[in-house]
Amino acid sequence: MIILGHDQSGSNAPSLIEAVRSWRGQLPAGESLALVPTMGALHEGHLSLVRAAREECDQVALTIFVNPTQFAPGEDLSEYPRTLKKDLEKARKAGVDLVWLGQAELLYPPGFSTEVIVPELSERLCGLSRPHHFGGVCIVVLKLFNIFQPTHAYFGEKDLQQVTIIERMTRDLNLPLEIVSRPLVREPDGLAMSSRNVRLSDEERVTALSLSTVLGQIVSSHAAGEMNVEKLLKDARSLLPAEVSLEYLEILDRSSLQPLQDLSESQDAVTCLAARVGEVRLIDNMALVHPQ
Ligand code: PAF
Repeated sequence: MIILGHDQSGSNAPSLIEAVRSWRGQLPAGESLALVPTMGALHEGHLSLVRAAREECDQVALTIFVNPTQFAPGEDLSEYPRTLKKDLEKARKAGVDLVWLGQAELLYPPGFSTEVIVPELSERLCGLSRPHHFGGVCIVVLKLFNIFQPTHAYFGEKDLQQVTIIERMTRDLNLPLEIVSRPLVREPDGLAMSSRNVRLSDEERVTALSLSTVLGQIVSSHAAGEMNVEKLLKDARSLLPAEVSLEYLEILDRSSLQPLQDLSESQDAVTCLAARVGEVRLIDNMALVHPQ
């Protein structure tokens, strides 16, 4: 496995981009290249993306870069877990061909000011409390696409809004690659896997389980025939313990991310939420299954 960026200092950082281009240029013509962008602290969710990429593409590149532009001042940029040594071991075992460790000074040189915004999709849900977040995600993902020129890029559906925005950006800008989204991966007890889970105390970890429980409750009530969105959401909210500070809980159309009023008409509904448990902000979502 090639590692680019491990011991590089700021002064020779630009060569990191050249190094990717030269590696890319040497791949046999016609080979597919999968890009798996991450912020590290790799867990099974990330590894499921790598495994899918490994099966479906000839080459797999994984990036690890905690991207500062998607964090607002006061958010958890400095607390974001960083576990590079373990990440490299996991990447090696999962069969990654190249790991690239981004550097802020390389990606955002002095004077950097370009913005990439997918307005409508970015302003709702997580965008309400994190208004600059998706602009930061789009700019770094677009930069990675330009640097690697992958044929495929893999994203997890835990960040459903993120993957929807990236799909839209890719379509709107005619980017020549396929976005592959893969299902969210859960812990055995149901908690959605997230790099941030390690920041939960034992007690908070128990409280956090209520998030997947309420989503599961919405899915099963709907599968049993409940069509009233307001009632489904109200019943679910009442199940959340007081220690959970709910940011949003919604039932949406999967592709437009618009709230649904009438479940009988939608074939592709999803329920999603964001909440704080202690200091840790968590998100989760589940697809609704139509009553038979
Ligand atoms: O999902 C993430 O880990 C990040 O938002 C991403 C896509 C790697 C961009 O920094």
